[in-house]
Amino acid sequence: MTTAQTSAAEGTQYALGRTRQEYERLRRQAQQWEGATERVLDRVGLPLGARCLDAGCGPGETMRQLAQRVGPRGRVVGIDVDETLGGLAVDRLQRDGHQQCSFVAHDLVEGGPILEGPFDLVYARLLLFHLPSRVEVLARLWDAVAPGGYLVVQDYDMSAVGAAPPLAGADRVGELIIRSFGAAGCEIRVGSLLPRLFIEAGVGVPDGTDVSGRLERLADASLMLEAVLRSLLPLAVSRQIVTEPDAESLLVELRREAVADPEHPVLWPLLMGAWRRKA
Ligand SMILES: C[S@@+](CC[C@H](N)C(=O)[O-])C[C@H]1O[C@@H](n2cnc3c(N)ncnc32)[C@H](O)[C@@H]1O
Repeated sequence: MTTAQTSAAEGTQYALGRTRQEYERLRRQAQQWEGATERVLDRVGLPLGARCLDAGCGPGETMRQLAQRVGPRGRVVGIDVDETLGGLAVDRLQRDGHQQCSFVAHDLVEGGPILEGPFDLVYARLLLFHLPSRVEVLARLWDAVAPGGYLVVQDYDMSAVGAAPPLAGADRVGELIIRSFGAAGCEIRVGSLLPRLFIEAGVGVPDGTDVSGRLERLADASLMLEAVLRSLLPLAVSRQIVTEPDAESLLVELRREAVADPEHPVLWPLLMGAWRRKA
């Protein structure tokens, strides 16, 4: 059995929902990981004028980074299954002067091959985490890479998330988040599985890997933990993982802890990176 088959759960759905609050949360999250993505792009190198694809582009913050790197003669295409989110992203980017950015609504699982390529860089962050058919999607992304171009993937490993030392409220919220993602078929260790997934998808052994982490103060981490849980709550309630009143009491406890000890350290999910150049 392959890694993808072992990890896929039945009845998958996009776990985080598609509310305006979630769109804003995605934007804040993308800004937090901007430095980690810059570091990986520095290691790969991306010339002016390059053609890029951001697969699962979400709010478009990585597209902005790519546009700044490739300049006005480059091309940055965002693909996402969420047409509303992608449309908002590209409107904002173009208003900010990034005319080289465009958006294509496409389901990377069900929608067949990517027709807009080939690209000098195909990039995907926090996409495979959500998908049941990780190997197939990776193979599809690899097909869209031009000879001499790169596939670069960054994704989470959530296994080490938690307060240090442990805190009852914050850790219970973290556990609830992880259980809810699991119930939606997400692979919470997908970041660490990337080298293996690359091989299974026919991409080959990665040329390089990267690990980024964030140690947040509880005062800040609690806001993101609450926002993630609120986005997951409809799914968590419908799968009977938690009731709404119990979730609200947990969030009260989390807020109390954040007021009592705002500097308490919280380890965020690790963001793992892997990349490979196509011969
Ligand atoms: C957690 S967000 C990450 C967004 C962005 N890559 C980032 O790092 O800021 C995951 C994105 O993947 C998109 N997505 C989920 N399933 C997809 C699919 N089957 N095809 C294309 N996009 C998908 C979601 O709509 C969402 O925008």
